[in-house]
Amino acid sequence: MSTSPKKPLRSQAWFGKADKDGFIHRSWMKNQGLPHHLFDGRPVIGICNTWSELTPCNAHFRELAEYVKKGVYEAGGFPLEFPVMSLGESNLRPTAMLFRNLASMDVEESIRGNPIDGVILLCGCDKTTPALLMGAASCNLPALAVSGGPMLNGRYRGETIGSGTGVWQMSEQVRAGKMEMAEFIEAESCMNRSRGHCMTMGTASTMASMVEALGMGLPHNAAIPAVDARRQVLAHMAGRRIVEMVREDLTMSKILTREAFENAIRTNAAIGGSTNAVVHLLAIAGRIGVDLKLEDWERGSDVPCLVNLQPSGEFLMEDFYYAGGLPAVLRELGEAQLLHRDALTVNGRSIWENVSRAECFDRKVIFPVAEPFKPKAGIAVLKGNLAVDGAVIKPSAATPELLQHRGRAVVFENVEDLHARINDESLDIDASCVMVLKGAGPKGYPGFAEVGNMPLPTKVLKQGITDMVRISDGRMSGTAYGAVVLHVAPEAAAGGTLALVRDGDMIELDVAGRRLHLDIDDAELERRRAEWKAPEPPARGWYKLYVETVQQANLGADLAFLVGSSGAAVPRDSH
Ligand code: FES
Repeated sequence: MSTSPKKPLRSQAWFGKADKDGFIHRSWMKNQGLPHHLFDGRPVIGICNTWSELTPCNAHFRELAEYVKKGVYEAGGFPLEFPVMSLGESNLRPTAMLFRNLASMDVEESIRGNPIDGVILLCGCDKTTPALLMGAASCNLPALAVSGGPMLNGRYRGETIGSGTGVWQMSEQVRAGKMEMAEFIEAESCMNRSRGHCMTMGTASTMASMVEALGMGLPHNAAIPAVDARRQVLAHMAGRRIVEMVREDLTMSKILTREAFENAIRTNAAIGGSTNAVVHLLAIAGRIGVDLKLEDWERGSDVPCLVNLQPSGEFLMEDFYYAGGLPAVLRELGEAQLLHRDALTVNGRSIWENVSRAECFDRKVIFPVAEPFKPKAGIAVLKGNLAVDGAVIKPSAATPELLQHRGRAVVFENVEDLHARINDESLDIDASCVMVLKGAGPKGYPGFAEVGNMPLPTKVLKQGITDMVRISDGRMSGTAYGAVVLHVAPEAAAGGTLALVRDGDMIELDVAGRRLHLDIDDAELERRRAEWKAPEPPARGWYKLYVETVQQANLGADLAFLVGSSGAAVPRDSH
């Protein structure tokens, strides 16, 4: 371990001064009982904490931060924990995604404006991971992400149940009259029974895996359960390592290269990861200056799904960890030449050095590339007159027969319209129809809601049907499943073709051909377009700023003025 930093520490511009300003910066800090020697030029490590009791998935983060601090002190650093806006998926309305970019601004300015040399990012619940990575990327200091870890497997009446995925399944059973309400409520405390985030391969676990695949986290960041003592060890070791990273000047941009993003895209395919990773990785790439495009997600289309985890499969994150975790998957990808092996990671080693000796301990959970769980996974990027700038579908989560489908559109103008009519027995719909939802995109909802996996009409459910083609400009929970086309761009509220679809129009979905087509002639389309009126924008506040500046899904749904980096320098320093 080197002991002297490669370049002067930025924290010394605060704490290293001998004048009045130095007095002010140090003296007020000392009211916390901090001894003078901590200001002697050792790396100051910010611990960016998304702890909140309103974000249950991150509610254990103050304790986790203590383990980070132990590591920082041990390596000769000076840890300082700070809170940022927390985004709890299960509580925050109208959707946590509305605030991802706001939280990223909080992270960015909290890091840049303070005497911080390197930062540990404590992330967990879905949006907290991209928000922290985006904000930190715009500062480009040494940064290391530590995920909070998934919950233990849910257990209900002897059965294993997955967070999220189990909710969708059981609520459909209640609606179909196959499950009592009392059983449904009992399942609540059986599903989420320990600290940690959702334990299916939903968005939180996907993003924790992306952290590891991008090289931004230590090996096994993705899957160690939150309650497993090894999660605390990982936090401790991250604390040690970030101090070294500061001394080495190992900044985020040295790790988040195009190769790192391509590794992450392929990894997402191999784990059957969430479609939400598409928008989050595009946004993170935008901040760090990597020219990632929606079309780059096709790089994952030749990658098989190797893990048998819900919602695409059977098992849960706890099983995944015991089976070898993400390193075992990355080794499979590396051996199949599906990984950029030289990509650098936060521990200073290449991703291949980290995983080349990883082992799989359960082939029911992690499959080899030669005999995969599902032959083709990944995210398919669809284009056509209904999605001029693109749309996505996760084929591995869909009923295979529906991946090639032509059907009559049944249109819902917004989510309220959907909820008002979906259970109406007189709704003119059958299993061959294509459900279309408008107004769920970044501008339209606003906030790009997870409503794309529309509930099936009750009358269809009663026939035993479990999947239909559904198309929207919204997102889908990573724990959900179905033949669901998402992220249609441009969205309806931005005047995309989706806004012009009417009941009875025929729609063609051809996943193999990567095509999404509204079968009406161009003249009729233009006539409808001329009649279309844009929705009224919000009057004030964050909603107004968001709607006026948010980019479309195919660009990552970041605010246009936030794309890019300003570095770590404080623009105007009066001290
Ligand atoms: Fe927090 Fe699922 S609700 S990760």
